[in-house]
Amino acid sequence: MTIVSNSPLHLRKILSFVRREGRLTCSQERALKDLFPIYGVELTDNFLLTSQALFNNNQPLVLEIGFGMGQSLIQMALDNPDKNYLGIEVHRPGVGHVLLEIERTDLKNLKIICQDAIEVLAHHVPNGALMGVQIFFPDPWHKRKHAKRRLIQESFIKNLIPKLNSHSWIHLATDWEDYAKQMMKVMSEFSELKNRFGPNQFCPNPNLIGRPSTKFQVRGERLGHGVWDLVFEKTV
Ligand SMILES: C[S@@+](CC[C@H](N)C(=O)[O-])C[C@H]1O[C@@H](n2cnc3c(N)ncnc32)[C@H](O)[C@@H]1O
Repeated sequence: MTIVSNSPLHLRKILSFVRREGRLTCSQERALKDLFPIYGVELTDNFLLTSQALFNNNQPLVLEIGFGMGQSLIQMALDNPDKNYLGIEVHRPGVGHVLLEIERTDLKNLKIICQDAIEVLAHHVPNGALMGVQIFFPDPWHKRKHAKRRLIQESFIKNLIPKLNSHSWIHLATDWEDYAKQMMKVMSEFSELKNRFGPNQFCPNPNLIGRPSTKFQVRGERLGHGVWDLVFEKTV
């Protein structure tokens, strides 16, 4: 007998984060209240995230998921005024911090969303909208029983690929060797993606590809961890 199960287990989505609120500083709190309406995006049901809708221009759109305190995102937006950046993060102190930096540096090409990126991707990013996606030091969920919470797994990448336009890329970084191997395995299995550095090769030096350091990279290095960067390009 074949059992076709409709168990919710089959529908379970990845829970890639825990809301560790931490303490909001007074200025972060002010930013969430006063600056989010200017530089943040409050998603309504049918809103589609495109450069045109967010920035009123057609510059290429780069998405960073889980930007933390935003070091990489802010630096890259400052360095590349000819691109638009969209950051998604659920950690409110990080969102507040980035809003303050956008105001301080008068950045015109960066907007922020404070929601689960998996939901946002599924419902608000049209196919072909992105020229790049960057996910730096995603939570490693290092206990074996938690590995299913890792963001970089087949189902997530499968849903992400259609959102990319042709000649676009996905850039991942981690300081956790076991996760680096998982990332390489998952990404290498998609025929639509090609490793920029050759089969099974990590990027030899993140400076080569203009990735700024991040809070979690510094933390990893302090703990004696290595750093692994992967860049895959969409071939179709
Ligand atoms: C380990 S931190 C790394 C932060 C930053 N990229 C860095 O390198 O310093 C991972 C971040 O991803 C965020 N995150 C995890 N899953 C997410 C999701 N589904 N949507 C939005 N943010 C998420 C977490 O809140 C956390 O701030």
